Amino acid sequence: MSQLAERALANDPERLSALFGDSADLLPLWIAEPYVELAPEIKASLENRAQVGWYGYESRPSTLIEAFWGWMALRHAWDGSQVHTSVSPSVGTSIGVLLEHLTKPGDAVILQPPVFTDFKPLIVAAGRTVVRNPLSLTNTGYRMDLDDLEAKAADPANRVLILCNPHNPVGRLWLQTDLEAVANICAVNNVFVIADEIHADLALPGQSFTPFGLAAAGSGVSWAATHGPIKTFGLAGVCDTLLISDDKDLTTTFQKTSSRLHLTRNNVFALAAFETAYKTGAAWLDGLLELVAGNAELLARELPDGIDIVRPEATYLAWLDFRQLSLDVPELARWLAAAGLALSPGHWFGREGAGFARMTIAAPRHQIEEAISRLRHALG
Ligand SMILES: Cc1ncc(COP(=O)(O)O)c(C=O)c1O
Repeated sequence: MSQLAERALANDPERLSALFGDSADLLPLWIAEPYVELAPEIKASLENRAQVGWYGYESRPSTLIEAFWGWMALRHAWDGSQVHTSVSPSVGTSIGVLLEHLTKPGDAVILQPPVFTDFKPLIVAAGRTVVRNPLSLTNTGYRMDLDDLEAKAADPANRVLILCNPHNPVGRLWLQTDLEAVANICAVNNVFVIADEIHADLALPGQSFTPFGLAAAGSGVSWAATHGPIKTFGLAGVCDTLLISDDKDLTTTFQKTSSRLHLTRNNVFALAAFETAYKTGAAWLDGLLELVAGNAELLARELPDGIDIVRPEATYLAWLDFRQLSLDVPELARWLAAAGLALSPGHWFGREGAGFARMTIAAPRHQIEEAISRLRHALG
């Protein structure tokens, strides 16, 4: 096991055993974060900040947001000149606050399962209903069911779509044409699009990410997008995220709520890491993406018969297909734990995920080799 995986285990043994049972030798590849040494410049910026020995109030410099947009312009050809940017403690916070503003109790929010686990609880906790527009699994990977989306969007109770691009857990990168179609359907039906783009920087080599804000320009759709360094640089325990929108009023409302609830409080370490990440992290990220692409390749080549991979176009997540083993939901979870693997069982992402499991592949090559070897061994 790598040092980082060991640290991850040591950090959260209670959660791990609650989810996967007690096993001293579980290989933890279930959380969407990189299990590799993080960028040395970021680590140094945190160490240097710690050395200062003063951790009181510190205001957020404007250079922070500038660093983000400098990065976005270079990596995604989006300079942010047409939009407003707000800081938010987390993606979940942004979505929760937006749902309060955009919907009322009893309204519904459209999700595209299998999809990131936190969306549904946020919707349900707000007293809103989930409406499903499931992805279709075709011979060429996952696709959106746009006819079904159109039907769901036409129902006036369905006020918001949460789009996940790149899509966690299936690793799909939505194309400009997909995004334009979504924008047009939602514009016509007055459905607000929350584009969760927190994995935007994780398009694998040869692929590119299209921001919803650019694809949707001119469609008339109302939208907001989430961004930030937390997934890209493994900073979920440190940094803030961003909420981007072209709507001045929405931005003002979001910022007023954030201020009212004191969600804008700064963390001196977040300030240090955030700016350093966007100013210096490119080479480290390129290395990470090469590693992830190689790991996906390795899985595609070496997974034993009976287990397939849905090849990711983006994210450091591999969506593994165990359906040929014909195990039901609890059996598959038990089988994986007995194999010594802590993966996220597919049903966590919605019933469409049954028979699948998600593996984090931002991990040293030997760890992926070990996971493959454990799967082979479990199959006998
Ligand atoms: C698509 C997506 N959105 C949001 C998050 C979590 O963001 P936060 O912890 O800032 O709420 C994750 C974490 O894995 C994610 O995959």
